Amino acid sequence: MRDLLPPAVAVAVAGPDDWAGDLLPAELTCLSDRAVPSRRRDFTAGRVCARRALAALGLPAAPVPAAPDRSPVWPAGVVGAITHTHGYCAAAAARSGEIRSVGLDAERHRELNAGVRRMICLPEEEAGLAGLPTGVSWPAVVFSAKETVYKLWHPVVGTWLDFHDARVTLDPDAGTFTARIAPARLHAAPVADPPALVTGRFSVDADLVRTAAVLPLS
Ligand SMILES: CC(C)(COP(=O)(O)OP(=O)(O)OC[C@H]1O[C@@H](n2cnc3c(N)ncnc32)[C@H](O)[C@@H]1OP(=O)(O)O)[C@@H](O)C(=O)NCCC(=O)NCCS
Repeated sequence: MRDLLPPAVAVAVAGPDDWAGDLLPAELTCLSDRAVPSRRRDFTAGRVCARRALAALGLPAAPVPAAPDRSPVWPAGVVGAITHTHGYCAAAAARSGEIRSVGLDAERHRELNAGVRRMICLPEEEAGLAGLPTGVSWPAVVFSAKETVYKLWHPVVGTWLDFHDARVTLDPDAGTFTARIAPARLHAAPVADPPALVTGRFSVDADLVRTAAVLPLS
């Protein structure tokens, strides 16, 4: 994940002990008493990584609670994002004076069935993927890129984005993606300058697809 983001963004990836690490009181209250052990582990690893990313920025340890909509609440002056999936967890954080927003996502590298692909990909995206090299589940990359876009979009715009509200184009040679946001979502955005275009990076190995992107300050 480190290679997918610029140096102004601090990135922390969970190690084996982080899934059973400590939560701060303000974070503990965000976990339901009914949370299953796997949810506790994921949430904990995310918070441990978040604090490590804050430390890498030279900032003091501070809780990163969850808002009612589940988005992480970073300390004032910080933007960031968290992902966890199947034994992998990472968090990214940056100073809001340097980066407007950051998103990152990891997903299992697997084939998606036709129904899921239809939910994720626009027909023109599917058509574009058909010409890409074999050996990679490109729809899974599009899926992850769109979740990265949502994690970056929501903190600055505050509105929902459906999977069909972004059109993703992949450049496998460069390991980059671009996402164009649907004009209707831009017009409906309650902020003056919603991001119309997001550019990010991706990497794929046998197990995982990773994507990440930043919104620069305008
Ligand atoms: C929110 C969402 C993107 C999370 O992705 P995911 O693959 O399910 O899960 P990940 O492990 O990668 O990420 C989970 C983390 O996302 C973060 N998150 C949740 N809601 C968020 C939001 N509204 N804004 C920013 N980050 C959010 C949280 O930190 C969460 O971890 P935590 O609950 O332990 O704190 C996904 O559940 C979702 O709702 N997707 C639909 C919206 C979307 O992606 N649209 C595509 C637009 S192009």
